[in-house]
Amino acid sequence: MNIQQNISLKPFNTFNIDVVAKKFTTFSSVNELEEVVHSNDPGIGKKLILGGGSNVLFTKNFEGFVLKNNLKGIELVKEDETFYYVKAAAGEIWHNFVLHCINNNYAGVENLSLIPGTVGASPIQNIGAYGVEIKDVFYELEAYNISDKCMQTFSLNDCEFGYRESIFKKKYKDQFVITSVTYKLLKKPQYAIAYGAIEKELNKMQVTELSIQAISEAICTIRASKLPDTKLIGNAGSFFKNPVVSKFRWHVIWEQYRDIAAYPVSDMLYKIAAGWLIEQCGWKGYRKGDAGCNPLQALVLVNYGNATGKEIFDLSEEIIQSVKSKFGIELEREVNII
Ligand code: FAD
Ligand code: EPU
Repeated sequence: MNIQQNISLKPFNTFNIDVVAKKFTTFSSVNELEEVVHSNDPGIGKKLILGGGSNVLFTKNFEGFVLKNNLKGIELVKEDETFYYVKAAAGEIWHNFVLHCINNNYAGVENLSLIPGTVGASPIQNIGAYGVEIKDVFYELEAYNISDKCMQTFSLNDCEFGYRESIFKKKYKDQFVITSVTYKLLKKPQYAIAYGAIEKELNKMQVTELSIQAISEAICTIRASKLPDTKLIGNAGSFFKNPVVSKFRWHVIWEQYRDIAAYPVSDMLYKIAAGWLIEQCGWKGYRKGDAGCNPLQALVLVNYGNATGKEIFDLSEEIIQSVKSKFGIELEREVNII
């Protein structure tokens, strides 16, 4: 185990925020993980499990121990008439896992193509895109319980998945290290192309016969057209969640803004596009120093180079206040603030 001291986390977060971690190491096996977690070093302090760093905003130096997940391996563990059960180690890059599934004709994750980060983080906020969420393909996960020092298995129900939510963001926050996730993937694909511009993109590609490959390619093209490349411009995807409001609240806004981007999620509730709310408040394309609001998709806050995490956070606070005073809706951050 190689423990580094006072190292910059800039290469380890997609916002490219330059903060220092007091201690840093990687782990490539559960044994190594146990060894670090239970080291008797009194200086270890608070621990942070890091995957690809694509859903975190560091607002200050991290005065603890960063444990970067490097667990690797993908295997087909069983199959039945309908499903392949594929187990992936938590440190696998999510998009590589998606490509592995596409190449082997395991269907169900193609709509989640090109989401940055690791397999291990996929259940944390129940990643979702283009009409599919991880809960739709989830079978079980294994996680290391830091205080009880044992491995535990979580079923679909145990995870309490919701929109960008799971038990690991709430009750069990920072208590478990996810070490592997097993997904249930279809032998016979059920294509989901109703969402957003997928169909339009497939037509543009002149696709005559649907396939999981074609859907994946269409989604990669759509995503690249509006989400900034993190290698060039720091960001963590959507900074806020799309708020869910009562039908009454939606209707009040709709009476004044007939072009509101929203859709019903139940008889009484509507989900409103936070990007639309932020754009209406005039933030789209805004820049102060190196902190800004993406000109192509207002829900994405960006670091043009040397913004600090505090500057990005302060901008998010200003956006929350202005959306609240114009629409009476309080946006909730999706990104993990550290
Ligand atoms: P990290 O940022 O490293 O960690 C996120 C949180 O999970 C932290 O609290 C961390 O402590 C915890 N964590 C990470 N790994 C583990 C583990 N093994 N065990 C326990 N805790 C762990 N998200 C979507 O849902 N849909 C999208 O369409 C989407 N698009 C994005 C586009 C861009 C350009 C970017 C930059 C991000 C996007 N995201 C999206 C957000 C992000 O990709 C996901 O949240 C992803 O799952 C984060 O993975 P990560 O490995 O980078 O997690
Ligand atoms: N819109 C605007 N102005 C903007 C941005 C969006 O008016 O600046 C409106 C448009 O009408 C657009 C609608 O909002 O049609 C929805 O926009 P988009 O399709 O880009 O999706 P989103 O709701 O902004 C969500 C997820 C994304 C996910 C996409 C595709 C959340 C918080 N975000 O974004 O996830 O990729 O849908 O499914 O739910 C992430 O979580 O990091 C992320 C990128």
